[in-house]
Amino acid sequence: MIDIAWEWLGYLGRWSHVIAAITWIGTSFYFNWLDLSERPPKAPTLKPNVVGEVHEMHGGSFYYHERYWPTEDNPRTLAHSGPAQLTFVTGIFLVAYIYWLGAGVFLVPGSGSAVTPALAILCSAAVIFLPWFVYDFVCRHTFDDELVTMVMAVVVVATSYFATQVFSSRAAFVHIGAMLGTIMVANVHFVIVPNHIKMRGQVKAGEPVSDTFHKLAKRRSQHNNYFTLPVIFAMLSVHFPLVSTNEFAWATISLVCAAAFILRLRKNRYLVTERKDRQLAVLAAVLMGLAIATSAIPAKPKEQDLASLDPVQSEIFGIVSERCAICHSAAPKMEGFPSPPAGLRLETMADITAHKDMIFTVAIASDLMPPGNLTEMTEEERKRLADWLASVGARSVDMDQNK
Ligand code: HEC
Repeated sequence: MIDIAWEWLGYLGRWSHVIAAITWIGTSFYFNWLDLSERPPKAPTLKPNVVGEVHEMHGGSFYYHERYWPTEDNPRTLAHSGPAQLTFVTGIFLVAYIYWLGAGVFLVPGSGSAVTPALAILCSAAVIFLPWFVYDFVCRHTFDDELVTMVMAVVVVATSYFATQVFSSRAAFVHIGAMLGTIMVANVHFVIVPNHIKMRGQVKAGEPVSDTFHKLAKRRSQHNNYFTLPVIFAMLSVHFPLVSTNEFAWATISLVCAAAFILRLRKNRYLVTERKDRQLAVLAAVLMGLAIATSAIPAKPKEQDLASLDPVQSEIFGIVSERCAICHSAAPKMEGFPSPPAGLRLETMADITAHKDMIFTVAIASDLMPPGNLTEMTEEERKRLADWLASVGARSVDMDQNK
């Protein structure tokens, strides 16, 4: 009963998160398109002070938009911040549900590094929340968006490097997505919406609307447009473990962020100028090519110092090396496996201990691994592994949580 309730919690959490995110991003894409597609009106307009107009068709109807500068109160001025807030709330819920509650399984790196689950959770919160303060500080101190772009490039590379050192490979990319997504939500919550409220207040009070508030909101809204593509790439990474499990994973995700940024820049320039920028397309393709190339560099295999193991550990290490690590290592010996399946490496005793719960789930609680018992693990070996796993307190975990 508890299990099914827990499963539903994850399912409903993800469902709400994806719905809120597509609504938010869809609205944001649409308004970005609307703004950049508008042209000065050619005929008399409905509203006063029209800055631009757009004619479009959708779902069998004709639509006509005017972007205007109000002179009188409009009682039905709709705002759109709900989906952004819901995306954040459900996103943090998912991070807590998958990576904080399951820190020992899904968050810590498998390499037996000094990172304990508690420390990993602290790093997780730091990666998600701290970069906003850097970004916001820079935005408040300069209007030069090229400078902001450069600072953000450094932030992305540095956090990607940090995340790939302190988190498991699958958690690392998601955290880059969560970090950028948090900046986007904070932009909505702390800058865009407050400026909207000020502008609406001016309209209500019959005062002229300040161009400064407009510019502040517009700028952060445009920044958000550039964050969108990298965030979505990062969020999908758990389904593609081969891409995030490599020696230079920090470079892979940084290069994809850069390529996605350039693609967006090209699209936005095209909407205004109606000219396709070939140089930007080539640059995006080169960056993406480099990202793919870095992802093909396998992580360095780790060496286990056999002398440091006690007799029981030696035996377990021997079993796992022979029956599992043939596939689950940086450079698998098994034919047909160019890289570790599911990104999981079991090369050292520390790796094995770090993944004890997963190993218990797939090799003791079920016989999923080795697949089809390809490596011919004997019943005796399974029994030995089971005894050792019991002695270190391994328990069954829900392996699908993270997908
Ligand atoms: C023939 C190669 C091969 C061998 C040998 C092998 N595995 Fe796997 N393992 C795989 C593949 C392929 C997957 C991915 C399955 C999937 O994603 O559905 C996998 C997935 C896993 C997973 C799930 C990882 C995740 O995050 O979803 C665990 C845990 C695992 N193996 C443990 C083991 C253990 C323990 C052994 C030894 C008892 C072992 N494997 C032996 C190929 C192998």
